[in-house]
Amino acid sequence: MADEPNYKSELVGVFGHPVAENPTIVMQEAGFAALGLNWRYLNIEVLPEDLGAAVQGLRAMNFQGINCTIPHKVAVLQYLDDVSTDARLMGAVNTVRRDGKHLIGENTDGKGFLRSLREDAGVDPSGLRIVVLGAGGAARAMTVELALAGASHISIVNRSADRARPLVALLNDNTPTQATYVPWDVIFAIPSDTHVLVNTTSIGLYPNVTDKPNIDYATIKPGMVVCDVIPNPPQTPFLDEAAKRGARTLDGLGMLVNQGAIAFKMWTGHDAPVEAMRTALAAEFGVS
Ligand SMILES: NC(=O)c1ccc[n+]([C@@H]2O[C@H](COP(=O)([O-])OP(=O)(O)OC[C@H]3O[C@@H](n4cnc5c(N)ncnc54)[C@H](OP(=O)(O)O)[C@@H]3O)[C@@H](O)[C@H]2O)c1
Repeated sequence: MADEPNYKSELVGVFGHPVAENPTIVMQEAGFAALGLNWRYLNIEVLPEDLGAAVQGLRAMNFQGINCTIPHKVAVLQYLDDVSTDARLMGAVNTVRRDGKHLIGENTDGKGFLRSLREDAGVDPSGLRIVVLGAGGAARAMTVELALAGASHISIVNRSADRARPLVALLNDNTPTQATYVPWDVIFAIPSDTHVLVNTTSIGLYPNVTDKPNIDYATIKPGMVVCDVIPNPPQTPFLDEAAKRGARTLDGLGMLVNQGAIAFKMWTGHDAPVEAMRTALAAEFGVS
């Protein structure tokens, strides 16, 4: 006898404001299609004052999970039943998953970077010295995961001390890594013992695609691994300059795809079809 038809979709998506230009839908829907899953990803505009009601809506409509983007990554914590250890340390959630009736907060941004570093660049951060440009949300997520993965030293290079100092304290107080703050008021020279250099600032983000961080590019050496968080366009002037100096480079597209792939697995239970997701997102960004 033929199976009964099942027209019910499982629902996930993203809460944001604004949310219309968030491209995650493209890779998640490509992943669902590749595995033949009847799942839907929805970009949902949620005002800050409506976030609590929106989370209640997830519960009522039995959503399997949700991504949170600006301005909800911190505020959403108060509406969840539990939060993973790393997301609690970061103080930010970018992915909510369902566990029975419970909604659990996770953060896949730093995990996505770590997986891209390991799998795309072949680098294990354990025991390495890392220099991070920036101290915002992306830096927080990435440095917590780098520290938990055993990085020996992390320098936080940032313009404003009021964002950098709490991050340095958080890393020193809660992880085995040694973190230091480096004020970024003049052109920054990369220390020669640096293994991995990461730009986590928004410098180079569309439409300012010709901008690059104010560092002394001559201090980038062959053997260093240089990473950028900017996913679109992924080949940034920062990475071009690093490649010219013989450094290995890692772009932000891999981080974006991998943070989505980790969320996909949390929601569906299936290993994400990473290449199908990467291909869809690269096509959306007009890169090969
Ligand atoms: N590829 C991915 O999967 C992924 C994931 C998450 C985020 N991102 C990207 O990461 C970037 C940062 O996001 P975020 O959430 O961390 O932003 P954020 O919280 O606003 O932090 C921005 C950081 O950039 C620094 N900055 C901005 N303009 C600067 C300039 N002209 N000179 C020096 N420093 C500057 C800020 O320094 P001050 O503290 O001194 O202001 C701050 O440290 C964005 O471009 C975002 O798209 C990528």
